[in-house]
Amino acid sequence: MNEIRKVGVVGLGTMGAGIAQVSVQAGFETVGREVSEELAERGRATIERYLTRGVEKGRLLQEERDTALRRLTLTTELSGLADCDLVIEAVLEELELKREVFAELDRLTVPGTILATNTSALSVSEIAAAAQHPERVVGMHFFNPAPVLPLVEIVRTSQSSDEAVNLAYHWAERAGKQPVRCNDTPGFIVNRILIPLLNDCVRALDEADVRPEDMDKAMTNGAGWPIGPCALIDLIGIDVHVHASEALHGKLGEARMAPPERLVHMQHEGKLGRKTGAGFYTY
Ligand SMILES: NC(=O)c1ccc[n+]([C@@H]2O[C@H](COP(=O)([O-])OP(=O)(O)OC[C@H]3O[C@@H](n4cnc5c(N)ncnc54)[C@H](O)[C@@H]3O)[C@@H](O)[C@H]2O)c1
Repeated sequence: MNEIRKVGVVGLGTMGAGIAQVSVQAGFETVGREVSEELAERGRATIERYLTRGVEKGRLLQEERDTALRRLTLTTELSGLADCDLVIEAVLEELELKREVFAELDRLTVPGTILATNTSALSVSEIAAAAQHPERVVGMHFFNPAPVLPLVEIVRTSQSSDEAVNLAYHWAERAGKQPVRCNDTPGFIVNRILIPLLNDCVRALDEADVRPEDMDKAMTNGAGWPIGPCALIDLIGIDVHVHASEALHGKLGEARMAPPERLVHMQHEGKLGRKTGAGFYTY
């Protein structure tokens, strides 16, 4: 197999819906798989909403929106992805669940199909080990929101074939993304660096007695960040960031990687950032 024509996306949650949108907008026939018809329709509705907003804002034509939506089909069965050339998994961040999905995908698809996981913090190698053909498994780590952020980390395990890595890389390029290759190390590239850095910013709030507004003012004006660290954590979601910090800390053990107490408190209080209307800021 040397060309990807049809793409499967497992899970149409936040990331899966975004990835499916990227795929249909780039012209690929795309099958989205959800656990129920209701969730599948909800995933489609999310994509439709974002594409419609794109038309309203003049980023795409009505006809392009309609054509893109027609490329999306839905299924509730993993077997509905059997004829895909690339399948990207975006289910919950749970190792056993992902391993089950990969064992099934490995059994249901032809050996040439590339199987990719969008995991943020799990080991791609451990997920791939559930497949009989781990050489066709890679990581494709998109960033949230997937239709907006250009980066995709293409993660190779020690068993990934060059063909699988290259096909995933070139597909991401054709989908309008900016892929980079990296090994399967904890946090890959961006999270390995960003998670401890954001945690440092949160610790400095208390150590230096700084208000979140001033921390953001400091980092945007003094370090040239496009967005302040507190606003960024609110956007990521406090729960998502705490979870990723715990995972990175569990693997690499650096004290800075552990979630700061302040974030753990915010999580317990249900202040999860933008999605709950309150985090460092009120929305
Ligand atoms: N949210 C982010 O910022 C972000 C960024 C990059 C990568 N990721 C990764 O993407 C993946 C998905 O994250 P998300 O934020 O889209 O989560 P989400 O909660 O929005 O979606 C989770 C998906 O998993 C599916 N699911 C739940 N239980 C299932 C089961 N038993 N079997 C099969 N599917 C099941 C849901 O139906 C849903 O489609 C995770 O691995 C996460 O680490 C998330």
